[in-house]
Amino acid sequence: MLPLIQLAVLLIPTLAHPVDERWFQPIDSTVNSLFVKRAPDPNSGANNAPDFASNYPALGTPPPSSLPSAWTQKLASITLPNVGVSNPNNGYPTYTNNEPGQDSTICSFTYECTTSDDLYNPPANTFALSFDDGPTSSSPQLNTFLAQNNISNKATHFMIGGNILGAPTQMQDAFTAGGHIAVHTWSHPYMTTLSNEGVLGELGWTMQIISDLTGGRVPKYWRPPFGDVDNRVRTIAKQVFGLETVVWNQDTGDWAIGNDPSYTIPSVESTMSGWLTSSNKSTGLLVLEHELNDNTVGVFMAEYPVMQQNGWKVMTVADAFGMSWYQNSEGDTGTVISQAIAGNSTLSMTSSISTSTSSSSITSTSSSSSLSSTGSPSLTSTSTSSISSSPSSRPSTSSDSISSAGKLGVSGIIMMLSILVGIRVGA
Ligand SMILES: *[C@@H]1O[C@H](CO)[C@@H](O)[C@H](O)[C@H]1NC(C)=O
Ligand SMILES: *[C@@H]1O[C@H](CO)[C@@H](O)[C@H](O)[C@H]1NC(C)=O
Ligand SMILES: *[C@@H]1O[C@H](CO)[C@@H](O)[C@H](O)[C@H]1NC(C)=O
Repeated sequence: MLPLIQLAVLLIPTLAHPVDERWFQPIDSTVNSLFVKRAPDPNSGANNAPDFASNYPALGTPPPSSLPSAWTQKLASITLPNVGVSNPNNGYPTYTNNEPGQDSTICSFTYECTTSDDLYNPPANTFALSFDDGPTSSSPQLNTFLAQNNISNKATHFMIGGNILGAPTQMQDAFTAGGHIAVHTWSHPYMTTLSNEGVLGELGWTMQIISDLTGGRVPKYWRPPFGDVDNRVRTIAKQVFGLETVVWNQDTGDWAIGNDPSYTIPSVESTMSGWLTSSNKSTGLLVLEHELNDNTVGVFMAEYPVMQQNGWKVMTVADAFGMSWYQNSEGDTGTVISQAIAGNSTLSMTSSISTSTSSSSITSTSSSSSLSSTGSPSLTSTSTSSISSSPSSRPSTSSDSISSAGKLGVSGIIMMLSILVGIRVGA
């Protein structure tokens, strides 16, 4: 009867791409050496099988004792720039000897420094759609909206490993609906304040749990919580784990609704509409948005029609930059290949960052092209790249609102608390 047929049709979005539990990697592949499958399918037996979480670190920054030797050996094989661990300083990380964060050797995004490798300016007319902090209790509402608008496969979800740990099947819901899954660290810390091993655990374990839950797909993108990233953290992300750093070129402040009185649902929607209705689309939009709570999801749901009406091409971060979704797979379906992660795990990319006297530009030379063997075209492009501080003319003391995540202060801490609440809700 018709009702049954309709039911079947309704179910298709979640059943069309079941998570294949085969482990695709040859046992001796380099990807397998970094991300060997570690946990059973949480769908086997009761939801969130009791032994699932025991395969991963607890909430919080994973301790050095949790780190697989393949990761620490890879870390030991790379050359890090001369950038120290920062001091948190209430959301404005400070460096040894008070070196300025926008210094080209440090290049902290908190101080609005970006590198040519950072992804944040999509091409003209493009809206790169992304949501941070999932899965949370508001994720189902977002995912339903995306599905209803046939854009599940146009969103990148930067997910928190600790949240996935508490709600693995919720993360799989976004994946099986066709969503693009990326990394937002294990416990949402200020990454530049962590030791090298801390950075390793935050990124590696989040990649691991995503890989385990998606049939072996190794994430290719990560976004630093609070936008707190510098060249030390970038180098670990890229050279140990092959991760691209994604920041943003606009911040709605959606996360501040309910915490900071200057951010309300109408004010945030108005800000977003302002960008969307601008006639100047010569640079695309990569807006910081969240699936943190009903407010942040609600802002997106209200603004999506404005995106459509104004002709924005909405797509995942990967598609916006013409890159593959995962390091070893083009997308959520299809083949997962054996792919060296961050180049040859025994012969890592030789990369050096040489400091020039100019404070606005430095040159980074990545000489190895070992990524080109099996991967997608985007993996072949390692060559000489220049890094520029951008916008170099802007003083770090600029007091303009919150275009940079570091300008969070107390709000940032409140946000961090909100996320911790989100973790509990998600769990
Ligand atoms: C989504 O796709 C379905 C099937 O192609 C179509 O019937 C429906 O109208 C689409 N909805 C929207 C909002 O585009
Ligand atoms: C359009 O905006 C970009 C930055 O997003 C800017 O560089 C460019 O000058 C603007 N063009 C015009 C015609 O205003
Ligand atoms: C990785 O490096 C080792 C040692 O240099 C080399 O023997 C091997 O062929 C390389 N593998 C790939 C895929 O480049």
